[in-house]
Amino acid sequence: MADIDNLQDGKNFHCDVPHTNPPFALKGSGSLDWGMKNRLARVFDPADGHTLMLAIDHGYFQGPTTGLERIDIVIPPLIPFADALMLTRGALRSSISAEMQKAIVLRSTGGQSILKELSNELVAVDIDDALRLNATALAVQVYIGGVHEHESIRNLSAVTNAGNRYGIPTLAVTGVGKEMARDARYLGLATRICAEMGAHFVKTYYCETGFERVAAGCPVPLVIAGGKKLPELEALQMARRAIEEGAAGVDMGRNIFQCDDPIAMIHAVRSVVHDSQTAQRAHELYLSLKADRRSEVNA
Ligand code: R5P
Repeated sequence: MADIDNLQDGKNFHCDVPHTNPPFALKGSGSLDWGMKNRLARVFDPADGHTLMLAIDHGYFQGPTTGLERIDIVIPPLIPFADALMLTRGALRSSISAEMQKAIVLRSTGGQSILKELSNELVAVDIDDALRLNATALAVQVYIGGVHEHESIRNLSAVTNAGNRYGIPTLAVTGVGKEMARDARYLGLATRICAEMGAHFVKTYYCETGFERVAAGCPVPLVIAGGKKLPELEALQMARRAIEEGAAGVDMGRNIFQCDDPIAMIHAVRSVVHDSQTAQRAHELYLSLKADRRSEVNA
């Protein structure tokens, strides 16, 4: 029984101070429910609204991708430097420690391989399994203009409706077919449709011209994919420009885990995303960390 002897009346009501509604600064997210906001705040660092997501979901359609042959060996040393991991439930259960504290962006659609039409996907993970895995967000591929555009938008709607029931946000990933130009007009169309259909954040590609219009026209945060492996300085320049032009972060895979030194590279990308570092300075950081780590190995 509660001890109610000597119970004292509260005194510090600050009657002259109006109640403050806790702020939530993330773009387009102010009207969401508490759980949804709390999960988004695990993906996007509230200190700057930015995120470094490490994308390692490539195996879901292309099998043992270069650099990801052994997720259990390669990825754990990178986790401390990422804000979130984007991966499949198979990789999560088999290869990542449940003691991991970072946000989990769970790939929830799939159903095709590089041998077939890529846009032909289905919802592969139901909401019950996402909850069992303590997913922070659910990722859905959307193929605007693709052969299976309609089905992919249906997948986005189904996953968003299920996530909304439990406060789990949805990441729409804009898949761009080989026949489509990755220009601002296309990316603006694709990202805006995803946001209007209810995605809470959207992954897209960077484009050299007009990216600021793509970002401004999307009412929720955008993160950019890294795309195919580039020389490190170019990858860092792309990340820096994307942030300057309105992206809230990166969801980068191959340009980190396919580097000669993925740990040095994730540090460098982090310095661009969270510390406003220039690409040149971040590249210098990459080279010096890489050299230090080599000399440690050779010592
Ligand atoms: C998109 O189709 C998947 O999420 C990819 O696995 C992811 O976008 C790849 O990231 P990156 O292009 O940086 O390797």
